[in-house]
Amino acid sequence: MIILSNVFRLVGVILPLLCPQIGWTQDSQKDMEQTAQLLTTFLNAGRLVVDRNQPLINDPGKGEKGFTPEVFERLVRDEFLEQTRIDLSHPPSSLPSPTKELLAALLLASKEVVGDAQFVINQRGIGYKNFIPATFGSQAARKFSNRSHVTIKQTTLSPRNLKNTPDAYEETVLTRLANQSASPAPIVEWVDAGRLLRTMMPIYYSEDCLTCHGNPKGILDISGYPREGARAGELAGAISIQIPADHR
Ligand code: HEC
Repeated sequence: MIILSNVFRLVGVILPLLCPQIGWTQDSQKDMEQTAQLLTTFLNAGRLVVDRNQPLINDPGKGEKGFTPEVFERLVRDEFLEQTRIDLSHPPSSLPSPTKELLAALLLASKEVVGDAQFVINQRGIGYKNFIPATFGSQAARKFSNRSHVTIKQTTLSPRNLKNTPDAYEETVLTRLANQSASPAPIVEWVDAGRLLRTMMPIYYSEDCLTCHGNPKGILDISGYPREGARAGELAGAISIQIPADHR
């Protein structure tokens, strides 16, 4: 047994040496699954940063808020480090380079969204500015996806933003998730005869979402959309990622 496990360990050491680190490596499926997980975590970290800064962003008494793309970058890097132990300023060499590049691209897209919103964020005399985790997340995901072979999307069964409309696969998974008890575990599946990785990380409503998504159902919330009548703990939607395996 000991000899066998040593042989496996040896193979594990030699194989990566034989396969140069160009594109996805030997363990590409695992790498891609990890990449999807990290991209999801990163988008979520960005949403969290926007959420924590809502009081500042919506402060009508303040002009310049100092919530610049650079400040956002620092906060999102810190949050990502906290959640993953990965420092994006010094990514570990064990992280495959496509993964690093995709994370860097998502960071750039996210910063651009914060940059584009500076005029709105820095307006004085206006409280609610519609720069919230969901609008940030939708925009950053779209900006990133338009430039990449990887697609990231925030989606839900009856979306407010029609650009977040689920495709057939997402609709099936969301329906399944909505009908089972809440679990933070992401759905990870290889579809299309193993050619496409699809992952979906469920998002659940908490109490503070209900001012907009809760009751009374149908009454317009502060963002101008009819409330969904949701309750805390119910499925709000998911962050959906697609990575094609044959991309080089
Ligand atoms: C201030 C009102 C407000 C609050 C609070 C709020 N949302 Fe939203 N939510 C919105 C708006 C507006 C959109 C549409 C965003 C867009 O244009 O992409 C949205 C969209 C979403 C979406 C994307 C799907 C869609 O409908 O387009 C999800 C998922 C979501 N919200 C979940 C949440 C969760 C979870 C919370 C609490 C942690 C929350 N929201 C808190 C207003 C709000």
